[in-house]
Amino acid sequence: MNAVAHAAAEPPASARQLAALMEARRTVLPRRLGAPGPDRAEFAQILGAAASAPDHGGLVPWRFVVVPAPQRGRLADVFAQALLQRDDAATPEQQGQAREKAFRAPLLMLAIVRMGPGNAEIPAAERILSAGCAIQNMLLAATALGYGSALTSGKALQSDALRTLFALDRHDEPLCFVSVGSVTAPKAGPARPAPSRYTRELGGGPELSPCS
Ligand SMILES: Cc1cc2nc3c(=O)[nH]c(=O)nc-3n(C[C@H](O)[C@H](O)[C@H](O)COP(=O)(O)O)c2cc1C
Repeated sequence: MNAVAHAAAEPPASARQLAALMEARRTVLPRRLGAPGPDRAEFAQILGAAASAPDHGGLVPWRFVVVPAPQRGRLADVFAQALLQRDDAATPEQQGQAREKAFRAPLLMLAIVRMGPGNAEIPAAERILSAGCAIQNMLLAATALGYGSALTSGKALQSDALRTLFALDRHDEPLCFVSVGSVTAPKAGPARPAPSRYTRELGGGPELSPCS
């Protein structure tokens, strides 16, 4: 193989770095995320990554509300309230466990998508998709900076108490919490699905021919 053909066959370094970064991003649940969290400059970089998400119509339909340490107690109250709303027989111990989730990662944000009003040409699915891209960019930025990260949802997300705490109106949909911090206890994640599991060629067989 000559040098030119070899160069064409090898993905460029940037592509290899990107593949490694994406592969390195794993969910590290908040209970495994500790101090230190991102400093101010790193936080700005993580947040800035969201801005590169595709965004049909330029709506910026997503936003992130940071829950700083002095506010974690209010979120803990919401988690306990949401539990009691679902199960009024929840024990004090169970309420304590629910509360404890609010104090876990050094950086904790709620991701919210705005489903309206205005610009009805951009449907809900596109707004949520844009939010997902923004969030993934942030997770990759956090990974590149050496932090672990996680998305978490849970039933409290749909509670009235949470909507009130975050001042959500009827157009706002809470999507998930985003947690970032230093990995205290690494754990292997599930195997990644093979592309053949999620890719098909219209009118074709199992073999994919990308550009023919
Ligand atoms: C919107 C969203 C919410 C999630 N919520 C939770 C959650 O509440 N608890 C949890 O253990 N994982 C949650 N996950 C993480 C997935 O379980 C995780 O991404 C999946 O197991 C694949 O692992 P990986 O992220 O390491 O590739 C959530 C993921 C997404 C996209």
